[in-house]
Amino acid sequence: MRRLAIAALCVACRPTTAPLDPQPTHDSAPRTVSQPDSGAPPVDETPQPVAVRINRDYAEGDTKRWAKNFEHDGREVFDKRLDIVDALDLREGSSIADVGAGTGLFTLLFAEKAGKQGRVVAVDVQQYFLDHVAERAKALGLANITVQLADQRGTGLAPASIDLAFLCDAYHHLELPRTYLADLRRVIKPGGRLVIIDYDRTRPGTGAWMKDHIRADPAELRREIEAAGFTLIGEPKGLRENFFYVFRAPRAPA
Ligand SMILES: C[S@@+](CC[C@H](N)C(=O)[O-])C[C@H]1O[C@@H](n2cnc3c(N)ncnc32)[C@H](O)[C@@H]1O
Repeated sequence: MRRLAIAALCVACRPTTAPLDPQPTHDSAPRTVSQPDSGAPPVDETPQPVAVRINRDYAEGDTKRWAKNFEHDGREVFDKRLDIVDALDLREGSSIADVGAGTGLFTLLFAEKAGKQGRVVAVDVQQYFLDHVAERAKALGLANITVQLADQRGTGLAPASIDLAFLCDAYHHLELPRTYLADLRRVIKPGGRLVIIDYDRTRPGTGAWMKDHIRADPAELRREIEAAGFTLIGEPKGLRENFFYVFRAPRAPA
C-alpha cells in the first residue's frame, strides 16, 4: 500500500538506472525539533536582496497552491525526480537532509531509499510546509521522516549528523548563503555530501524574470560553495534546465 502511494508520486518519471547516508530515529510520528544554538562560527554577511524578496511569496501558507507549483508534469525536477534520486546512489541507513523541502517531493522519495535504519529530515523555514510533509509521511507510514524548522542562518540540525544534504531549487532562496554554508559544513559528517540542483540561468532562452530570480550563474555559485570548503566531485547528467552539483565535505570536522 505504502509502496503504491510512493509509486504514485513517481508516475510521470522515466526511471533509469542510477544512486547516500544516519542516526536512526524510530518515532512513529514526524516531529519538529526546536532550533538548537547552531554553534556555527558567525559569518558577517548582508542578506541577498533577491532571496529576501522571493521568499516573501511563501508567507502565504497555501500548501495546495504550492503542491501544484512544485509537483506537476513539465517541471524538470518533478519529471526527473526518480533519475535524480537514483543518481545519488543512496544507501540504506543513510541520514539525509532535504533542505528547503517545500511540499516534500524529495523527502518522501528519500525515505524509501534510506530504509528503516536510515532517516530523512525535511528542513524548511516555513512551519506549514513541515506540517504538510509530516502529514504526508504519517499517511504513508514513513516513520523514518522527521522535520526540522530552520532559519536563514542555519538548518538547526545537530553537528555531524547528516550524510547527505540535498537542496533542490532551494540554494537561490538562501538569504545568507555564506552563513548557511558554514552551518551545512558543520552538520554534514566529515566526508559527507552536499547536493545542489538549481536552475541554470546561462541556458539559452532564459527569460528576464528567471535571470532576476536566480541571483548568479552556476559557475559563480560553485565558487561560492567551494569557498566554504566543499569540493565538487560530480555533475550527474540528464537535466537540461538545471545544474546538478555533488560536493564532498572536508574530511576534517568543521
Ligand atoms: C522553490 S521551493 C523548493 C521546494 C522543493 N525543494 C522542491 O524542489 O520541490 C524553495 C523552498 O526553500 C525554502 N527555504 C527558503 N529559505 C530557506 C532556508 N534558509 N532554509 C531552508 N529552507 C528554506 C522555502 O520555504 C521553500 O520551501
